[in-house]
Amino acid sequence: MTQPAVRAFSPPAARSDRAGRTIAVASGKGGVGKTWFAITLAHALARSGQRVLLFDADLGLANVDIQLGLVPVLDLGSVVSGAATLSDAIAGFAPGGFDIMAGRSGSGGLAALDPVALEGILSMLASATAPYDVVLLDLGAGVDRSVRRLAAWADTLLVVATEEPTSLTDAYATMKLHAADRPGGDARLVVNLCSTPAAGARTAATLTRACTAFLGRTPPLLGTIRRDPHVQDAIRRQSLLLTRHPNCPASLDVEQIAAGITDERPAA
Ligand SMILES: Nc1ncnc2c1ncn2[C@@H]1O[C@H](COP(=O)(O)OP(=O)(O)OP(=O)(O)O)[C@@H](O)[C@H]1O
Ligand SMILES: [Mg+2]
Repeated sequence: MTQPAVRAFSPPAARSDRAGRTIAVASGKGGVGKTWFAITLAHALARSGQRVLLFDADLGLANVDIQLGLVPVLDLGSVVSGAATLSDAIAGFAPGGFDIMAGRSGSGGLAALDPVALEGILSMLASATAPYDVVLLDLGAGVDRSVRRLAAWADTLLVVATEEPTSLTDAYATMKLHAADRPGGDARLVVNLCSTPAAGARTAATLTRACTAFLGRTPPLLGTIRRDPHVQDAIRRQSLLLTRHPNCPASLDVEQIAAGITDERPAA
């Protein structure tokens, strides 16, 4: 079941004091929950009163719109082809109270975006961030050139890992490249699909130790998210977890992560 994107929800008025904080969500390994987490974090931040833009920056296999059952009128492909500006292509998502810049799934053109075109998108995005408190970028899996550039461009990189060794290795690789691309940059860790919060914290400690020893940086753990069947239920129904199952374990965990991000906001 799909629902049309709501385009009547216009972005809030621009602020002149500072641009919104940009947060990229990456992982290296695919399928660890980046897209679901980025959507749910956007929703949690919006519910706490923040002005949020969720940017589907998975250039090859965009699927924010799929997880939410949206049919975007315009998407990143329209922007890259010159058919629309970035501001035109941003649509309000009224059920979540946040805005979405949709990607284009399966677009080879976007996956192979040349560096000049990518820089063009980033400069448009830099001006589009002004009306927002937070701009979340849902990145693709892997560590290709575009993923690295987007991760290094954001103010903060959130690396999502799970307890699986392959995920840990790929999360470490993502941290390593970010340390090279953005020395002194702000990278944090989120452990998803945890069997228990304690197991998630142990996983984080393993990764953090490796980062401290070999990269000379110690990424803080922003939070752990429990494995929760309600997540699959919400995705299957193309609905928002915080609306559908507000008190389930994964909802509470994401709310806690959102509260940590909100607490860091400097007073306006
Ligand atoms: N906390 C969780 N509890 C249970 N299932 C989860 C949880 N987080 C993610 N999942 C499951 O993982 C699947 C993959 O999630 P998602 O598509 O968000 O991952 P991704 O990292 O964005 O993938 P890709 O790398 O392909 O973009 C979801 O469809 C969902 O079933
Ligand atoms: Mg994804």
